[in-house]
Amino acid sequence: MNQDDANQEFPRPKTVVENDAIRIVMQSVHAERKKIGLVPTMGALHEGHLSLVRQSVRDCHVTVVTVFVNPTQFSPDEDFDCYPRALETDLDLLARENVDLVFAPSVEQIYPKGFSTYIQPPDVAKPLEGECRPDHFRGVATVVHKLFNLSAANVAYFGQKDYQQALVIRHMVRDLNLPTKICVCPIVREPDGLAMSSRNQYLSPPQRQKARALWQALEAAAELVQSGQRDATLVRDAMRQTLIAAEVDRIDYVALADPETLVPVTEVKPGTVALIAAHVGQTRLIDNRLLE
Ligand code: PAF
Repeated sequence: MNQDDANQEFPRPKTVVENDAIRIVMQSVHAERKKIGLVPTMGALHEGHLSLVRQSVRDCHVTVVTVFVNPTQFSPDEDFDCYPRALETDLDLLARENVDLVFAPSVEQIYPKGFSTYIQPPDVAKPLEGECRPDHFRGVATVVHKLFNLSAANVAYFGQKDYQQALVIRHMVRDLNLPTKICVCPIVREPDGLAMSSRNQYLSPPQRQKARALWQALEAAAELVQSGQRDATLVRDAMRQTLIAAEVDRIDYVALADPETLVPVTEVKPGTVALIAAHVGQTRLIDNRLLE
């Protein structure tokens, strides 16, 4: 036990940083026929991540959490350099969750010199986020595929907060016959409805107030649909109005779409998904809700 562990009530999980190290450990776990759960993260962990970890710990014999800020999913004008990195705090949080292994590789481990093989993401990556962040899902799919290989995961856990990301990964798994099952867990929200996100920490107190508008717009959509409104244009307009009234700084999209293909709908049906991406100050926020 090192000094850090001795100083805290819960010992931190074993942490490895090299591809060979995780591969060797996980292959031996796999050989013992233990069910392996993987929670891929970019760190700066919050209750949303921890809910995925807890689900994995409940479902699986062994839980691996990866902490890697993946450069290939950021475009040059995005926040890769200032994305919050808090490995020490993350390890303290994970110490309480019965996590077996943390994989926290360097960029050079994942993308060694000469790296040039990428996953071409499925069609569901094209609209919405795909239009606003053109290479984003190529980077996500590539790193997630690598993490599946390295961890030999039986099940991988993702949050519904990144709705399109979860679809992209599910379609990749289906199309490439990957053996990893995908479990998508519910969005965890702050008491006022704001979806938890590592990027929320960028928000100043007034921006934090404005950011509630994303949830309020989704609530407005749900209320309209509950009261019988089925016209997607009218529901979308009401969502947009909520965002405008709160003076969010930019709206990237407000969409009502088929939950599996993300093709826009003209008529809201049970299961239609409402999705929003908007900027508050410099911070880009996303949120979504299935309309029952
Ligand atoms: O959702 C995230 O945090 C990231 O996109 C992921 C899945 C860890 C890949 O880098």
